[in-house]
Amino acid sequence: MILKYNGIPIFFTDTGKGETLILLHGFLESNEIWKPFIPKLSNNNRVICIDLLGHGKTGCLHKIHTMELMAEIVKIVLDHLKIKKPLFFGHSMGGYVALAFAEKYGKNTAGICLINSTAKEDSTEKKLNRSRAIEVVNQNHKVFISMAISNLFEPDSHVRFKKEIMVLKKQALQTPITGITAALEGMRIRKDRVKIFTKDEYKKKLIIGKNDPILHYEAILAQTKNTNVQVVEFQGGHMSFIENSRELLQEILLFIE
Ligand code: MLT
Repeated sequence: MILKYNGIPIFFTDTGKGETLILLHGFLESNEIWKPFIPKLSNNNRVICIDLLGHGKTGCLHKIHTMELMAEIVKIVLDHLKIKKPLFFGHSMGGYVALAFAEKYGKNTAGICLINSTAKEDSTEKKLNRSRAIEVVNQNHKVFISMAISNLFEPDSHVRFKKEIMVLKKQALQTPITGITAALEGMRIRKDRVKIFTKDEYKKKLIIGKNDPILHYEAILAQTKNTNVQVVEFQGGHMSFIENSRELLQEILLFIE
């Protein structure tokens, strides 16, 4: 479905009835990543997948798409659908957006499940890498996409999921250059939201890949120390919706219960 907002299309899918789940994809991804999960999840739930700003079939709004701005788009979709208090599931950048949403709209947040994501802001080194990445994208976005997607999988997965990686790269190539750079800049300047994530107001779960090549396992784990965040570890990398798809579905279903 498409909603028009400030002259741009906002794309989302809406399947099933029951408790509402908002599924938010990561950087260079779209609602497509959730498709294999929808049949099972929508048996007893209402599943909404939103293409974030500058991704999938949703347009670009500004030169920088902050996590807050992306969260506003999510709120616009929820208001349109009259959804009051859903559960959020965010893969990586989608998790950053879910946290920005919870910061502003805590009363509209029933729970947050971060999937291969973090509540921490970028380190100084990562911020620098983002700026370099923006330069590479402006020079040759195809090379950037190919490299960026490959880097998200753990080494063993490259052969095992060759076909899936190819599909993902093909889909990522649909992301406009302005969408890529706007998200990179938005992620670079995002705030630390560990306090938001660990609040008691809603339920929380953190799913991490022990071999995630871009999120340091120990550092991610440290965020949840002495908190009531439920932590689940998978053996794979950053792309658990592919590398650990069955376990991920199970964990999503458990979070809903
Ligand atoms: C993602 O998968 O959404 C991004 O790689 C997250 C990031 O770069 O921080």
